[in-house]
Amino acid sequence: MAARIAIYPGSFDPPTLGHLDVIARGSRIFPQLIVAVLRNAGKQALFSAAERVEMLRQSISGLGGAVEVCEFEGLLVDFAQRRGAEAILRGIRAISDYEYEFQMAWMNRRMAPALETVFMMPGEDFAYLSSRLVKEVAGGGRSVAGMVPPAIESRLRKRLGLDSILD
Ligand code: PNS
Repeated sequence: MAARIAIYPGSFDPPTLGHLDVIARGSRIFPQLIVAVLRNAGKQALFSAAERVEMLRQSISGLGGAVEVCEFEGLLVDFAQRRGAEAILRGIRAISDYEYEFQMAWMNRRMAPALETVFMMPGEDFAYLSSRLVKEVAGGGRSVAGMVPPAIESRLRKRLGLDSILD
């Protein structure tokens, strides 16, 4: 039977157009998609989990009710099981992603054999896009237009104290 509920987990610090592309693609495959933002006290994030959830909700408002955004903490497999998910969705870009992704997929499968990890490719415009690089470029005062939605770019500039710098 096809998976009905899928979880798309990540840090999303901040969400990029690559993430949003995978969400749109996933929402066309799975009847219900839960975008799950990791609330990770140990990891230094630029935006709080609540801010990342808000940015995602604003960015996907056109996709309708089949996509939900929430926070999670602890093990992903436990959260997925609590929510009745049958699949984990992950975006995969270049070959360099494979090692990390396969490690996680394998470990998750060991812990929860019935939970299937599904990989999707983002559009080619986003093949080399990452939240880390977006933060670096924005932090250096350069535009990240075409990499994140305009509303997220202005939040980034504010957070990085760049509002006074003109492009
Ligand atoms: O966007 P990211 O940082 O690549 O997402 C990583 C994420 C959130 C999917 C991963 O760190 C995760 O699932 N963390 C929750 C803790 C967990 O389940 N760890 C074991 C993974 S095998």
